[in-house]
Amino acid sequence: MPVVVVVGSQWGDEGKGKITDYLALEADVVVRYQGGPNAGHTVVVNEEEFQLHLLPSGILYPEKLSIIGNGVVVDPLILVDELEAMHKRGRDTRGLRISDRAHLIMPYHKILDALQEESMGESKIGTTLKGVGPAYMDKAARVGIRVGDLLEPALFKERLQANLSDKNRVLKYIYGKDTLALEPILDSYLEAGEYLAPYITDTAVLINHAIDEDKKLLFEGAQGTLLDLDHGTYPYVTSSHPVAGGACIGAGVGPTKIDEIIGVVKAYTSRVGDGPFPTELLDETGDWIREKGHEYGVTTGRPRRIGWLDLVMLNYAAVLNGFTGIAFTRLDILSGLDVVKVAYAYERDGQIVREFPASFKELAKCKPIYKEFPGWPEIDPNVRTFDQLHPNVQDYVKFVSESIGVEPSIISLGRGREDSLTLRNVFGM
Ligand code: IMO
Ligand code: MG
Repeated sequence: MPVVVVVGSQWGDEGKGKITDYLALEADVVVRYQGGPNAGHTVVVNEEEFQLHLLPSGILYPEKLSIIGNGVVVDPLILVDELEAMHKRGRDTRGLRISDRAHLIMPYHKILDALQEESMGESKIGTTLKGVGPAYMDKAARVGIRVGDLLEPALFKERLQANLSDKNRVLKYIYGKDTLALEPILDSYLEAGEYLAPYITDTAVLINHAIDEDKKLLFEGAQGTLLDLDHGTYPYVTSSHPVAGGACIGAGVGPTKIDEIIGVVKAYTSRVGDGPFPTELLDETGDWIREKGHEYGVTTGRPRRIGWLDLVMLNYAAVLNGFTGIAFTRLDILSGLDVVKVAYAYERDGQIVREFPASFKELAKCKPIYKEFPGWPEIDPNVRTFDQLHPNVQDYVKFVSESIGVEPSIISLGRGREDSLTLRNVFGM
């Protein structure tokens, strides 16, 4: 039975929550494999809106397993709040499992995230300030504290003490800030640990058993390919691996177990945070798309930067991830425009550029070369075949998929779970 990975192909906010929720209809298990509360995934079920940060989108199906994999960084206080909010709305969350190997975001990570950003001044990354980068730094430095440690209070205290003695020196002597006391952190984290204990387990074992039992698994990436630590627009990236390969590490499965990799492609591009953005629209069209698409960060409320679709970037994403299909989102937001543009190459110093450059300074010099398409009217969410779509939408979708050599599998027609057109069932049913 297929194991399907859903990956953002741009700078995040492509509509992964909607696509994951739609595909989760068929899945038995949904797994988040990286990132943390920096993610903001909006899912609309029967006109009720859910904004998920740490919980996998599968949580909205109570009978399914929803797994927070080892590759995620977990802020236990945010997770408890998110679960409580679900319970208040009458949602059953007993399907949740949290990896004991996932690393914890600690209070000093959030403080250091803000202080590091501040000290960078103009060249700041524009992070979500959730402590994600500093938590992954500690993981790589082998001093991190893991979810499983919450279940061993004496060990947790020891690790916290060791970390605090180090972090407090940084806070005091590098940044001239107040130090943090042990007790309040210890108390609040152990309390959260008790709350989360029933959900904490060895999730890689669960996931691999499910694969052996021919269950259908869906791996849900957060962020997007261009925010990947290795392959994204470094240094304007997040500190984890959203690319499909990250699913193997962040969930604990071998690459041979993955069958399908679906790239979520928003019909235009958006970006929150700093860094070069070749197709950025700094005009009324950009403002129009931002307002119509409510392009404001789910996690931070920041207005998102908006631009046309960029095929140089998309091609790069298709190759890096090995997409087997595309899920198009937000074609409905572009309806009503006279002209829709797509960048198919860049121009730099009189040269045509088709490969996405590694250097952000190079990228900043690239000017997009556009192909123009006639716009389309409102999209009917009840369309059930590709042929029923407006011919201009068909042309746009065909041009994009043919350009990157990947067939479309899903076309989102609106916000709701049911406003979706399946062209190929990726679970092979
Ligand atoms: P979803 O899952 C868009 C961006 C931040 C910043 C950079 C680093 O909703 O698509 P971080 O806090 O991760 O250290 O910030 O990454 N970023 C996102 N942008 N969507 C997201 O998540 C993002 N998560 C982080 O804006 O530029
Ligand atoms: Mg988001």
